[in-house]
Amino acid sequence: MTTKNKSYKIAVIPGDGTGPEVTKEATKVLKAASAGGGFNLDFTEFDYGGERYLKTKKVLTDKEVAGLKKFDAILLGAVGHPKVEPGILEKGLLLKIRFDLEQYINLRPVKLYPGVWTPLRDKGPADIDFVVVRENNEGLYVGEGKFINKGKKNEVALQVSRNTRPGVERCIRYAFETTRKRNKRKKLTLCGKTNVLTYAHDLWWRVFNEVAKEYKDIQTDYAHVDATCMWMVKNPEWFDVIVTDNMFGDIITDLGAMIQGGMGIAAGGNINPKGVSMFEPIGGSAPKYTGKNVINPLAAICAGGMMLEHLGEEKASQAIENAVMDVTKNKLKSLAAGKMGFGTREVGDLVVERI
Ligand code: IPM
Ligand code: MN
Repeated sequence: MTTKNKSYKIAVIPGDGTGPEVTKEATKVLKAASAGGGFNLDFTEFDYGGERYLKTKKVLTDKEVAGLKKFDAILLGAVGHPKVEPGILEKGLLLKIRFDLEQYINLRPVKLYPGVWTPLRDKGPADIDFVVVRENNEGLYVGEGKFINKGKKNEVALQVSRNTRPGVERCIRYAFETTRKRNKRKKLTLCGKTNVLTYAHDLWWRVFNEVAKEYKDIQTDYAHVDATCMWMVKNPEWFDVIVTDNMFGDIITDLGAMIQGGMGIAAGGNINPKGVSMFEPIGGSAPKYTGKNVINPLAAICAGGMMLEHLGEEKASQAIENAVMDVTKNKLKSLAAGKMGFGTREVGDLVVERI
């Protein structure tokens, strides 16, 4: 008798630019990892993105988002098209999925792999290994605000940062849980701006300290966002887990990506702990590299690894991470597009060979 393998339904949205090239390598690696891990991955591809928008004027309908709820997870390549006005795809596709599927956490590991160049002199893999837990459904991203006297000399533009008690609390709780589960330095840093944002970040500060009482095993710390940027460069080893709001999280994770070797390797997860989560390389669609077999697929591959961990396939996820680390350490000349010493597909093959 054979027992039936566990099977996961994965929605794949390759998107625009180099998105399709990197998701192709990620699914190739995921297939290898699933074969080794004794489970099945059933991929369904969707053509959502800039190309379809230009042809149909449709970005992503409510019905299509509802369709995504039937999957166990989503793998996204990249959104952004040079012929589409900025904001349309970002709001209509990426942010719509994050909001409508209530993916209220954006989880972004900042980890320097062996052999990877970092612009931080004197820092190595032992120093750069932390996780940013970014709130993903609120803050300045809710799109609330208005113009007063638009176009006039006395124009005023208002942009609201909306922070709800339940929204802040669930994010902070998730961050404490993540710190406990990581079991490394057991330190959680709240990144805010309590000296200026005396409403929004007063709420964050109060909730953080309240929830902290339930996590006596976790050391807590606080840093203003500007100081956080400074410490990330000067003493990244001080961080274990950082929790922050949507806008600050967006900004500090680009800095994080740079100190871990760049957009070629940085991956993230948009997490709904009780629903459907979406994993993506955090870089953009890189139109100028499209179709040239030069873009680095490791960020998409690492996003796939995060997806397996989230699905509970921790061994297979670890196998991907180990393979990637071996490739960065022993094979790639650089993580930058066109400078890896290998093409996009070849990097995918190198990872597959090591799984
Ligand atoms: C990111 C991106 C998005 C964001 C954009 C494309 C809307 O920069 O995933 O960090 O701001 O969240
Ligand atoms: Mn960003």
